[in-house]
Amino acid sequence: MTDSYKTPQWDHLLKVAIEAREKSYSPYSHYKVGAALLTTHGKIYTGCNIENAAYTPSNCAERTAIFKAVSEGDQDFAAIAVVTINGGAPCGVCRQVIREFAPNLTIIVGSIAGDYQVLSLPDLLPDSFGPENLPRET
Ligand code: THU
Repeated sequence: MTDSYKTPQWDHLLKVAIEAREKSYSPYSHYKVGAALLTTHGKIYTGCNIENAAYTPSNCAERTAIFKAVSEGDQDFAAIAVVTINGGAPCGVCRQVIREFAPNLTIIVGSIAGDYQVLSLPDLLPDSFGPENLPRET
């Protein structure tokens, strides 16, 4: 949570998220969000928020990136950078989607000015519910 966690790798991931944010389709909220998801193999999947005239079908930047990765066969994630104009944190739905695949994911929450915080999923979603909580009954 402090500046001491800043690294060139996180600086780079943030930069990729800032670029991804430019692709945001957000004519309703005008709140552009970009994401860059780093796999444990070093590949980066980008995402942006994609809104809809019917509102509820809108998708967040984080989930766009995660769904792109999973749909390409990648499920092993090391970190995600999320960028907004003001350093807004990931929404609850995105936190839960991250929880499914990467319960300890490093989460870089940044702004377009380049400042960021390094958090983790347990920071943002303590006492979470996950796959292991579903009992297997036959
Ligand atoms: N949004 C994201 O893309 N990620 C979040 O974690 C928070 C919210 C988007 C959804 C919507 O398009 C806009 O930001 C305003 O809520």
